[in-house]
Amino acid sequence: MKKSVIIQASSRSHGDTNKIVNYIAKNNDMDVIDLRTKNIGHYDYEYKNKGDDFLGLITHIIETYDTIIFATPVYWYSMSGILKVFFDRISDLIRVHKDTGRKLRGKNMTMISSSNSDDLKEGFSMPFVESANYLGMNYLGDIHVYIENDFINNEVKLKIDTFIETINNTI
Ligand SMILES: Cc1cc2nc3c(=O)[nH]c(=O)nc-3n(C[C@H](O)[C@H](O)[C@H](O)COP(=O)(O)O)c2cc1C
Repeated sequence: MKKSVIIQASSRSHGDTNKIVNYIAKNNDMDVIDLRTKNIGHYDYEYKNKGDDFLGLITHIIETYDTIIFATPVYWYSMSGILKVFFDRISDLIRVHKDTGRKLRGKNMTMISSSNSDDLKEGFSMPFVESANYLGMNYLGDIHVYIENDFINNEVKLKIDTFIETINNTI
C-alpha cells in the first residue's frame, strides 16, 4: 500500500479548492474524497451520530491509503468548518474505536490551503502539525496556493509540482 488520497474540504464541490485538487489528482493519479458529499455530524460526547458516514469513511481511508493530503480553503483564517468537523470526529477513534485510531500511526499527512491571494497568516498549519504529532502520523509539510480569476497561474503550478515531487520522494 503506497497510495495517496486528497481529502477535499471545501463548501463547494467545484470551486477554487477543487481546481487545485483536480490539477494534482490528474497529474499524479491520486484518489479524491469530497468531504462535502459525506454526512458527517459534529462530534458528540455520547456518540449519538455513530450511524453517519464518518466511521466507514475513516476506516476506508486507513485501509486504503498511506498518505493523506488535506486540501482546505481558508475560511476565516482557519481550515474549513467541514474539515474541522472531520478532525473533531477523529476523537471517536481515540475514545471509542481505538484499534482503528492506532492504525493512523505511521501514516503521512500533508496539507494544502487555498485562497485568492498569497497571504496565508502565520499559524494556519499548527492544528495539522500538532494533530499529526498527537496521532503518531508523519507530517510531510504544507503549501499555500491561490486561484486568481478562476485560474491556477504558472507560479502556483510550479509550487504544487515541486511540493508533490518532494512528497513522492519522501514516501
Ligand atoms: C466563509 C468564507 C470565509 C473566508 N475567509 C477567508 C479568509 O479568512 N482569508 C482569505 O484569504 N480568504 C477567505 N475566504 C476566501 C476563500 O479562501 C477563497 O475564495 C477560496 O479560494 C475559496 O475556495 P472554495 O471555492 O474551495 O470555497 C473566505 C471565503 C469564505 C466562503
